[in-house]
Amino acid sequence: MCGIVGYLGHKSPIPLIVDSLRHLEYRGYDSAGVAYLDDENLLRIYKASGKLINLENLLPPELQLRQLGQNGNGHRHIGIGHIRWATHGAANDTNAHPHTGNRSEIAIVHNGIIENFYEIRQELQAKGHVFHSETDTESIVQLLESIAESENDFCKVILKALTKLDGAYALTAISKKHPNRLYAARHQAPLVIGVGQDVNGHPEYIVASDAVAIVQHTNKLIYLKDGEIAEISPEGLRLMNFKGEIIEPVIETISTDPLTIDKKGYKHFMLKEIYEQPDIVRNSLSGRLKSIHQPIWLLGDTPEAETLFNAFLDTIDRVVIIGCGTSYNAGLVGKYFIEELVQVPVEVEAAGEFRYRNPFISPRDLVVTISQSGETADTLAALRLAHQKGAKVLNLTNREDSTMAREADFVMPVRAGVEVSVAATKSFTAQVTALYLLGIALAEKRQAANPEQLEALKADLLKIPSRIETVLHNTDALQAMARKYGNTRDVLFIARGVNFPVAMEGALKLKEISYIHAEGYSGSELKHGPIAMLDSSIAVVSVLTKGTVFEKMISNCQEAKARDARVVAITNTPIPPALQNTFEDILEIPESLEQLSPLLTTIPLQLLAYYMAEFLGKDVDQPRNLAKSVTVE
Ligand code: F6R
Repeated sequence: MCGIVGYLGHKSPIPLIVDSLRHLEYRGYDSAGVAYLDDENLLRIYKASGKLINLENLLPPELQLRQLGQNGNGHRHIGIGHIRWATHGAANDTNAHPHTGNRSEIAIVHNGIIENFYEIRQELQAKGHVFHSETDTESIVQLLESIAESENDFCKVILKALTKLDGAYALTAISKKHPNRLYAARHQAPLVIGVGQDVNGHPEYIVASDAVAIVQHTNKLIYLKDGEIAEISPEGLRLMNFKGEIIEPVIETISTDPLTIDKKGYKHFMLKEIYEQPDIVRNSLSGRLKSIHQPIWLLGDTPEAETLFNAFLDTIDRVVIIGCGTSYNAGLVGKYFIEELVQVPVEVEAAGEFRYRNPFISPRDLVVTISQSGETADTLAALRLAHQKGAKVLNLTNREDSTMAREADFVMPVRAGVEVSVAATKSFTAQVTALYLLGIALAEKRQAANPEQLEALKADLLKIPSRIETVLHNTDALQAMARKYGNTRDVLFIARGVNFPVAMEGALKLKEISYIHAEGYSGSELKHGPIAMLDSSIAVVSVLTKGTVFEKMISNCQEAKARDARVVAITNTPIPPALQNTFEDILEIPESLEQLSPLLTTIPLQLLAYYMAEFLGKDVDQPRNLAKSVTVE
């Protein structure tokens, strides 16, 4: 969370930094700020609470247009910027980054959490430092200024300060005493440096939390590793570890085109991303499921990677899936599917729980980490813990350049494309599709299912995209439901079997973008507590699919109706006329094999959440208190 940017080159830094911050808004949007050294080498800081646009409106127009320092003292043009997701202190102007110390000599921007910030703050206050913000970040900059009183080499100043910090951070700093130098350090939070050239052939460097903020300027990137610090100056880039030992930087040339972030005529990114799902599933299957008669090809990259992975799959006797939020829900669908089909035990763990217990993990486990961003702090820590315990990790991610993808033993890109909306939609369907492919591949290898069954699954999987299109072409009923239930205070989502995780995902979507209280339950759990809540003010959205649990779900819906709840059915099979009065609304969607139905049942729930939030006038793409990439614990 939080996005940081730093620039050193011949261009005007502030417009470039603000533009790069725009690409990082998914990481937080509580406040934004920039700092730079002007022609007189004075440290200038602008910051504003709220979205980036507030900062843009605050910046003097000449700052955006003028080539800063062009006629100045020969300094390169240097600046840093930040977009905040608040951890310590309210989202106001004072707590916004960049922060500086009492002598206004150094400015820093920071992503992460300093766990011992309070001790550092107290120590410095005792020495006379006056703190202005409530942030943990201010402790870092005051500490830097304190160390800089007796140390001239700013790299050493930072290295000394870092030895005193506990927690996670990526930070970028500038100092008046070293006006030609930009510093960047990483410990458990992502940081990447773009190495480019401007049109006149002058070198330029852009530091950012994510390559998306850099790729419009250069595709040559250095991904910092934990425990590395970079000093960037007109002479070039010096990379060191935290002991101060020089490291040879590895410059990677990435193939990513500059990312166009465009709503393509949709009102919100979320709606656009929901509508992209048929193509996302097609994309995800392409090259992997070539025909129903051919075995699944999982990793895609090289035959060597595939052979290695296949050899490893032969050795496993358990699958452990780890993720957070929506990725965790996708993992649950995977559990239902893989365990039933392959008859291998599958556990699903919330990463934040997994990492702080002492889980049993063995080298015969396949650990699957699922993360859209590939940077979620808890999932990354879980991946590392699994490695420590000797397991091999397969990472399902939407970001092949992420820290998780770099650290995992095997990577299966989910190919959802850039997901801008904070509420995950297309990444969920892409993750679920990837898990289906993994399950079928495992079943094929182990001959756990007969060929006809596997062919039927593959054939049905290939039909999913056009069925999603059918759901997307018929949204009138969902829009009407959104208006009807938009003012409901509580919504329960119920389902059973492989659709139980869909109920959880439907509830998560609704609560995060509409702020309506919503919970997802197994229909069978209703009577063990939640049923006490039911009365005529509560909506119960049920997912009923043809197959093993249809009748059970009908009974659960009747139990809800008997308590006056307003029961809605999302179903892929006609509800018998005699039972139709159980439901206030019924939405029929296309049928599919029961195991694959989550790819279809999820879509109306995403749309319902979207239309309800829209009806309530909420900020759909950037809901309050959230951020897209959760890089703090
Ligand atoms: C919900 C949502 C979050 C993420 C979670 C994990 O719509 O987006 O619950 O799913 O923060 O993020 P990743 O998948 O990036 O690890």
